[in-house]
Amino acid sequence: MLQRIRGTQDFTDLTLFNFLSAVARAHLTHYGFNEVMTPILEPTDLFRRSLGLNTDVVTKEMFTVKAGENEEAICLRPEATASIMRAFFNNGIQERPWRVFSLGPIFRHERPQKGRYRQFHQLSIEMIGAGTIMQDAEFIAMLDTFISENLRLDSYALLLNFLGTAEDRENYKRALYAFLEKQDNLPRAIQERKETNLLRIFDLKDEECKKALEHAPVLTDSLCAESRAEWDNLRSLLDQLSISYVHDPRLVRGLDYYNKTVFEFSSLDLGAQNAFCGGGRYDHLSIALGEKEPVPSMGAAFGVERLLMLLEARKDKLALPQKPPLIVLIPLAPEQQLLALIAAQELRAVGICCEALLEGASVKSMMRRANKLGAQYTILMGEDEQKGNYITLKDMVSGTEEKVKQGDMVEQVKARVS
Ligand code: HAM
Repeated sequence: MLQRIRGTQDFTDLTLFNFLSAVARAHLTHYGFNEVMTPILEPTDLFRRSLGLNTDVVTKEMFTVKAGENEEAICLRPEATASIMRAFFNNGIQERPWRVFSLGPIFRHERPQKGRYRQFHQLSIEMIGAGTIMQDAEFIAMLDTFISENLRLDSYALLLNFLGTAEDRENYKRALYAFLEKQDNLPRAIQERKETNLLRIFDLKDEECKKALEHAPVLTDSLCAESRAEWDNLRSLLDQLSISYVHDPRLVRGLDYYNKTVFEFSSLDLGAQNAFCGGGRYDHLSIALGEKEPVPSMGAAFGVERLLMLLEARKDKLALPQKPPLIVLIPLAPEQQLLALIAAQELRAVGICCEALLEGASVKSMMRRANKLGAQYTILMGEDEQKGNYITLKDMVSGTEEKVKQGDMVEQVKARVS
């Protein structure tokens, strides 16, 4: 048999996935966000311009798709923020802030491992045209409430950093470069990124690189007075909203469009790939996409598979939807199959969930199957029942059986299951 593509997954039970999407939709609607859907196929240029030419996603992880001759290069989207910003302009949206969310598949050609896939799902939440630090605080608080109250997760941390303005980052890069120049025996990966995309040295997670950067200067020390005031304000607002966070001066995020506030929610329960949500401010993304004006914006994306891993371990704490009671109809011989089929239709018509066993199996194996399906009641229909115009209703929990007139079947079953 052919196997699925490496780094992809089959979902054969969607209970938890559907639960998560329903809770997310309800929560976000409550906060005034509307759901949108953008294409999976996008121009490759959209991400080259927005994420940055030197980022891992653009240099190594894009799934490009064969386009027609003379057509622009296209790809499977590696994230949704640039698509949503594109949609904002393409559709002439006037509303500001435009509060939207989108849930769907994302594609990155990464090395597959636990929690890291080549096709995965993101819940992207964006606030396009929202420029204040107060809005950042509200947004982060909204995410935190979703995680702690709606999903009832408790062992996670919010990592926070402030990237300031482009000028702040230039100042910082100069300080960082000077620091690196003074170090002996820098790991090769750092040496390479030092020249191509300096801030990305902090995305290097191996121990040797981490150690080499232990005493590197931190970005928040290079902020200008205005940025520093915003950074102080953000932390003070989060304190006042009782949101716990950890300042992680190394958090630079792997995409180039961010400025000012950046954050990640992570959980040690996930192993190496521990970030289950990441986001921040992207005030200049509109410019990168060719607009004249900046449209200050804020957003984040949850990795759905990683959230599902966390939820799976805490399933018993969640109010997962209960399956409705099931009635299984068992025709004892082929002559009663049509009768069972009609009875099943009558029960379904009044909203009762039922299944008629029509494979012509033995009574013993049909009873076994009814048990396996978790039937609350079975309806037995044999020759005697057919002749006498009744059915035998069996309570699968107590094992008791009773005869019910065929004409009363619907009412009697309904009274028992509702
Ligand atoms: P990101 O940090 O690249 O940000 O991805 C967001 C989340 O998607 C990660 O925290 C992680 O949970 C999940 N994720 C990323 N790659 C994989 C993978 N290969 N397999 C499974 N899960 C993965 C963004 O994509 C930004 N667009 C977020 C954003 C929205 N920023 C502003 N608005």
